[in-house]
Amino acid sequence: MTTKIIMDTDPGIDDAAALTMAINAPELDLKLVTAVAGNVTVDKTTANALKIVHFFGKDIPVAAGAEQPLIKPFEDAARVHGESGMPGYDFGEDYGKPIDKTAVEALHDAIMAEDEVILVPTGSYTNIALLFSQYPEVKSHIKKIVAMGGSISGGNMTSAAEFNVFTDPDAARIMYNAGIPIVMVGLDVTLKALLTKDTIAKLATLNETGKMLNGLITHYNDGTDEGRPMHDVNTIFYLLHPEAFTTKKMWIDVQTEGPAIGCTVGDVRGAYHDGKTNAEVCVDIDADAFNKWFIERVAEMD
Ligand code: RIB
Ligand code: CA
Repeated sequence: MTTKIIMDTDPGIDDAAALTMAINAPELDLKLVTAVAGNVTVDKTTANALKIVHFFGKDIPVAAGAEQPLIKPFEDAARVHGESGMPGYDFGEDYGKPIDKTAVEALHDAIMAEDEVILVPTGSYTNIALLFSQYPEVKSHIKKIVAMGGSISGGNMTSAAEFNVFTDPDAARIMYNAGIPIVMVGLDVTLKALLTKDTIAKLATLNETGKMLNGLITHYNDGTDEGRPMHDVNTIFYLLHPEAFTTKKMWIDVQTEGPAIGCTVGDVRGAYHDGKTNAEVCVDIDADAFNKWFIERVAEMD
């Protein structure tokens, strides 16, 4: 019995690695990929998602989504992921086209076609917020959301805010108040599970997928030579190995204005929301298990 998932992404080098893991996981059935503006503009994130799907010869629909955050002006992360969003490997020019639906329409149709599906956003949550606003009926078909983003231990865009939430804090607030179970895979764990230099080097010796990932990751400006954070890949690692994570349930609020805009504020003592929680926050991870899993999975690919 496979788990049906949908990924909303902004490839982006770590998004590309997360898509690679999801597409090649026999435990998962990736029904749809939607793209959003984030690391780079949505035309590029859509093309990059198509490149990964085409690289593996899969017939998984890709839909283009929001060009801008709901309210906040768009700021990309090309300084981290390169102008193309996925430098370091030649995917060729013939990688197909997105389907003739917007991301919101594609998400609605794909979710309503299933009894239950898990939503895995690894970019800003703009498409998700628009979906819930336009088609609230989809919520009952979403078993849970496993979202890369946020942090209860400091940010990477400011001292307070993580990039995906910082990009569209208003969308993040809508998602965290949608009443759907959320697993927050934030910087609290993604900055611990760093791909080591040896792991990155070993990728290139495995197969064409390893060469592709090594090419991308050696052009990735996040982390240091001692270790590169594969933020988005942690969502797939969580889906397949939740036992490698320590989580804590708490209420998460999102700051949508002021100098701490994009900060995910955790009610860590359960003191201010009458015991209510809206998220299961990942607070620790087995980093060695992550590196071992990453190499073993890629080694099984073509
Ligand atoms: O803060 C890390 C997140 O921002 C990741 O999803 C990365 O791809 C960027 O989008
Ligand atoms: Ca991302």
